[in-house]
Amino acid sequence: MTPYDAFLSTHKVMLAPMAGVSDVAFRQLCSEQGASLAFTEMVSAKGLSFANERTAHLIDLYAGEALVGVQIFGHEPNTMADQAKWIEQELDGHLAVIDINMGCPVRKIAGKGDGAALIQDPVLAERIVHEVASCVSVPVTVKTRRGYYDGVETCVDFARMAQCSGAAAIAIHGRFATQMYAGAADWGCIARAKEAADIPVIGNGDVFSAQDALELFESTGCDAILVARGAQGNPWLFAQINAALEETFGAAGDGPQEDCMRAGAFPTPEERIQMARRHAHLLDDHHPKAVVRMRKHASWYVKGVPGASAARAAFNSCSTVDDFDRAFDALLERLSHSPEGKQGTIG
Ligand SMILES: Cc1cc2nc3c(=O)[nH]c(=O)nc-3n(C[C@H](O)[C@H](O)[C@H](O)COP(=O)(O)O)c2cc1C
Repeated sequence: MTPYDAFLSTHKVMLAPMAGVSDVAFRQLCSEQGASLAFTEMVSAKGLSFANERTAHLIDLYAGEALVGVQIFGHEPNTMADQAKWIEQELDGHLAVIDINMGCPVRKIAGKGDGAALIQDPVLAERIVHEVASCVSVPVTVKTRRGYYDGVETCVDFARMAQCSGAAAIAIHGRFATQMYAGAADWGCIARAKEAADIPVIGNGDVFSAQDALELFESTGCDAILVARGAQGNPWLFAQINAALEETFGAAGDGPQEDCMRAGAFPTPEERIQMARRHAHLLDDHHPKAVVRMRKHASWYVKGVPGASAARAAFNSCSTVDDFDRAFDALLERLSHSPEGKQGTIG
C-alpha cells in the first residue's frame, strides 16, 4: 500500500476547496461533522511568492486542525514548486496534501493561464505536477474538470497525464469549464477516468445528499469524493454521508463522525441557527473583519427555516458578530411564535 492509498483509505469524503467559503471556521465545522479532510480555498502561488500577507492568511489553521489539504493555483512550475515547499515547511506536519487547481474556469484565473487554462496545455500541466511533486514529501493531487470546451472530454487523458507526472490522485468535477455550473455534472467521465488511470480518482459534482454520494461512489467506482456547494450552510451533510456509507458498505473512513450530534440526522431550525451562530463566532475569533463573510453563510443556514426571508434581509446589514447575534435572536424569537415552531427537521 502506498502512502497515498493509506491516505485515501481514511479520507473518503472531503470538503472541496471553495474560494471565499472554505476558511478556518467552515473547515472546522465540516470536520466536526465528519469531513475527513477539508481543503483550503485556492491559494495563489504567485501571491505567496510576493510574501503577500492576505494570501498567506489563507493557509492559517484553526486551533486543533490536525491535517489540512492546501490547494494552489498558478502556471509557473518553479514558483508553484517553491511555494508548495514553503507551505509544507510552514504547516509543519499539518499538511496532508497539496492539490493543484487545474479546473477553475473564472476569467480572472483561467484568463491568466491558471486553473482550467491548464487543461488546454497538458505539457505545461505535466511539468507543473512533476516539479511540485518532486519538491514536497506529501502527496500531490490535481483537481480538474471534464474538459475545457463543451463536448470535448479530456479528463481521461488528463488523468493519465497526472499519473505519469507523479500525481497521487486526480479529482474530477464532471462539467466542462465553459459550462461553469450549467446543466448536471456528468459522472460517466469520472467512471471513464477511473477505468483508464491507475491512480485513485476523486469524484466531484452535484452531491447534495447522502443518496447522491452513494450513487457517485457506486456509479463511478471512484475512490473518494469532494463535496462543495452541498455543504454550504449544511455541514451536517458529511455526517449524513458517512452514516449512509457505514450502512451500505460498513465503513466510512476515519472522520470524527461518532462525535457528531445525532450522526446522520437532519438538523432542526433551532440547530441550524445555533450552528450559524457558532460559525459567526468562530469567524470573529479568527478575525473580526472576516465576520462579514457570515452574511452569505447565515443565509445558507436558514434555508427552509420559517422567517428566513426577513432574516436574510437583516443578515445583509450585519457587520459585527453582535449584529449577527441580534439577527439570530430575532429569528429564534419569530420561530417561537411560528406555527411550525423550532422543532421538525429540514433536509
Ligand atoms: C463558491 C465556490 C468557490 C469555489 N472555489 C474553488 C476553488 O478555490 N478551487 C477549486 O478547485 N474549486 C473551487 N470551486 C469548485 C468546487 O470545488 C467544486 O469543484 C464544484 O463546486 C462542484 O462541486 P459541487 O457540485 O459539490 O459544488 C468553488 C465552487 C464554489 C461554489
